[in-house]
Amino acid sequence: MKITCIGAGYVGGPTMAVIADKCPDIDVTIVDLNAQRIAQWNDDDLSNLPVFEPGLSDVVAKTRNRNLFFSTDVENAIREGDIIFIAVNTPTKTYGVGKGMAADLKYVELCARQIAEIAHGEKIIVEKSTLPVRTAQSLKTILSNNAKNLSFQVLSNPEFLAEGTAVQDLYHPDRVLIGGDQTPEGLKAIETLTSIYARWIPRERIIQTNVWSSELSKLTANSFLAQRISSINSISALCEQTGANVSEIAKAIGTDSRIGSKFLQASVGFGGSCFQKDILNLVYLCRYFNLPEVADYWEHVIKMNDYQKRRFANKIIETLFNSVSGKKITCLGWAFKKDTNDTRESAAIYVTTALLRDKAEIHVYDPKVTPEQIYADLDYMKQHHRSNDMTGIAGDMTTKELKDLVHVHNEPYEAMDKAHAIALLTEWEEFSSYDWEAIYNKMYKPAFVFDGRNLLQKDKLSKIGFEVYTIGN
Ligand code: UDX
Ligand code: UDX
Ligand code: ADP
Repeated sequence: MKITCIGAGYVGGPTMAVIADKCPDIDVTIVDLNAQRIAQWNDDDLSNLPVFEPGLSDVVAKTRNRNLFFSTDVENAIREGDIIFIAVNTPTKTYGVGKGMAADLKYVELCARQIAEIAHGEKIIVEKSTLPVRTAQSLKTILSNNAKNLSFQVLSNPEFLAEGTAVQDLYHPDRVLIGGDQTPEGLKAIETLTSIYARWIPRERIIQTNVWSSELSKLTANSFLAQRISSINSISALCEQTGANVSEIAKAIGTDSRIGSKFLQASVGFGGSCFQKDILNLVYLCRYFNLPEVADYWEHVIKMNDYQKRRFANKIIETLFNSVSGKKITCLGWAFKKDTNDTRESAAIYVTTALLRDKAEIHVYDPKVTPEQIYADLDYMKQHHRSNDMTGIAGDMTTKELKDLVHVHNEPYEAMDKAHAIALLTEWEEFSSYDWEAIYNKMYKPAFVFDGRNLLQKDKLSKIGFEVYTIGN
């Protein structure tokens, strides 16, 4: 048996590396149109892999060119693979119908058309990308109308890995979900994919459903997780007004086994490629099926998240005597969470945008994110953000002006030298081990720290002399 994966990104790369590790007798080929990305995956120097994930380089070192291959030859991989995973990107549409809401399925559709054109014999097509409900049906329609001599099954096998812990999540998942047609052929395909995961995952953790349940479970899981964060963040705003402490509340409610203790960390707002996109998909779907109350309910999870990011930025501006114009503000962290170089929908982008609108001078340090990425994120924000409220730097700031106001550092102390304020936006652990006394001495006074992750020890910093703002306290 041979496995092909189309899309060598955050999902395809780690997932296939782990499958290759656990199935040494199966050849796994990952293809991508992006030749530079494939070259990075093939780089002898493993620190150049395009995706940073703890433990990933070890798995790649063990499997690459043994039974894991990275290539740009999409056609050949489609021809050879018995199971073809589709793990291409599905961003929110930035144009036309469903702009800012619906998932852009052009990359998925392109894959389906390519498979239809090239594939022969028996194939199992697996949708792995985060996709709106009903995508499997669209895939089927494209395949059945275009393919010749192809007998195929479409399965939904959503990915639940979280970035930063992807490798661990793949080796020890809470569950694997496989949805397929409830026909003899569909059930057989489900069983084939199940038997691959069953090599390292206990069978009782492999849940088999119909396609719709599988697709909707993925959206529901992410929407629930995001909802927990928006719920605790909403309470953090109330805590700041009342003198209650959100961490104490999270602990107190988390001990109720019906609520559970995970995912109750108040923050500057959730980011990442999945949460917002999946909720927007869910909302779009509900509106399509004329369920406005359901759509509004879920849309508020995102509105609360926007509010939290805006609230944090406003707090900085208000505290700095109502203007940050010309002031040096240092952002510690740019990634949407620690242990990843992914910046998609990162709260840092929104907070920075709001500060730039107020003419702040921004200095950024992130241990893993490149300057090119940071500028690209701000440029993208300028053009495409869904809510006008957030596109503060639209139109009136050129890319050059943006670059003049945003400085990216590869060393943290230099980034904080002579700063008016520090905004901690990603919970990288190294931030808590810095020499805060030395940092204080080199900052303008009063020296402000805005800890968007409640990572630093507030008491310790206050004792040094900092004015510290934390979330929900
Ligand atoms: C998420 C889901 O967890 C995963 O199952 C799915 O496959 C993809 O989407 P990911 O986006 O990689 O994974 O990271 P996650 O750990 O869920 O964090 C998402 C965002 O929420 C981050 O910005 C994180 O900082 C934030 N967060 C998380 C909080 O603000 N508080 C929390 O308690 C947890
Ligand atoms: C609740 C809290 O559980 C308890 O901790 C608090 O002290 C008082 O309020 P109670 O109202 O007695 O307790 O019952 P609970 O079991 O929480 O159910 C409340 C309602 O939710 C019931 O109508 C129940 O039928 C409904 N429910 C509960 C659901 O519809 N679905 C569920 O999954 C759980
Ligand atoms: P994800 O987080 O879903 O993995 P990424 O953007 O990290 O998303 O990765 C998706 C990858 O899919 C990108 O590297 C992109 O170049 C690739 N891709 C998109 N469309 C195609 C296609 N038709 N054929 C091959 N690769 C594709």
